[in-house]
Amino acid sequence: MTEHDTVTALLPPDLDAQRAAAWEAVRASPGYLTEREAKFLMLAAAAAPASGAILEIGSFKGRSTVGLGLIAKHYGRGPVVAVDPFTSPSSTDPAIGAQRSTFDDFQANVHRAGVADVVEPHRMFSRELAPTWSRPLRLLWIDGDHTYEGATEDIRLFRPHLAEGGILAMHDVLSRFPGATRAFLELVLRSDDFGPTGFCGSTGWAQYRPRARAHPSLVRRKARLARTLEGLLRVLQRGEPTGWRGLQHSFWRSLTPHGAVNASEWIAEVRG
Ligand SMILES: C[S@@+](CC[C@H](N)C(=O)[O-])C[C@H]1O[C@@H](n2cnc3c(N)ncnc32)[C@H](O)[C@@H]1O
Repeated sequence: MTEHDTVTALLPPDLDAQRAAAWEAVRASPGYLTEREAKFLMLAAAAAPASGAILEIGSFKGRSTVGLGLIAKHYGRGPVVAVDPFTSPSSTDPAIGAQRSTFDDFQANVHRAGVADVVEPHRMFSRELAPTWSRPLRLLWIDGDHTYEGATEDIRLFRPHLAEGGILAMHDVLSRFPGATRAFLELVLRSDDFGPTGFCGSTGWAQYRPRARAHPSLVRRKARLARTLEGLLRVLQRGEPTGWRGLQHSFWRSLTPHGAVNASEWIAEVRG
């Protein structure tokens, strides 16, 4: 058996088929999560080497909830706790037009996908859930308020609950929201508490390893990613990334690897 075979054996053999089928359900729900991002989240939900719940901050109409729910249900790795006031309160949220709430759409999508029994919705702000939260987290998925204040608050409130080996993932770090980019840079990439780190689409992810001394190659990689994120942030802080700024934004983004995640390489890294 080669080393590649050994780590691949740590992944469920039907994972690719399950992710492909779940993606079909995910794409039926409105939202901005891309296929590669959804499949990365499903990989983390199925194989993050830690015990505990999945917490989703920011559910909107349930696009990512459906993907996480299908994988958690299939592998018996729930629950998926979904917290959102469902009113799009932040300036960075998708517009909901004349609708007063996205909760009915969320419920309909979760039921249609058949995952209502593993999804635990909380119709409130994450900061209202935090004081009563006591469960360890295997996956913390942050896709709520993308302002600097909102994103840092979510990391600060829930990072203490991450199980060792658990994964923090944050949406729109490589997108057009300087708050999410800055929060990930300062509180995750520059923190010694996180080990393996990377990007998939606009999603930033990192493994919580507070007690492990990082290998020098990992330290160098995090420093490299921090430099390109700093470049991206400087552009975003000057205003919307359109025109010349859009080109600069694309330049820094292209220097930050963010392609689809290879499941075998990923599991080898987070198990290492
Ligand atoms: C970008 S959407 C989430 C998209 C969703 N994850 C998907 O896959 O389609 C952002 C959501 O965050 C919610 N939100 C904003 N501030 C929040 C907070 N402080 N706590 C929880 N949810 C919040 C909004 O109501 C909105 O539904």
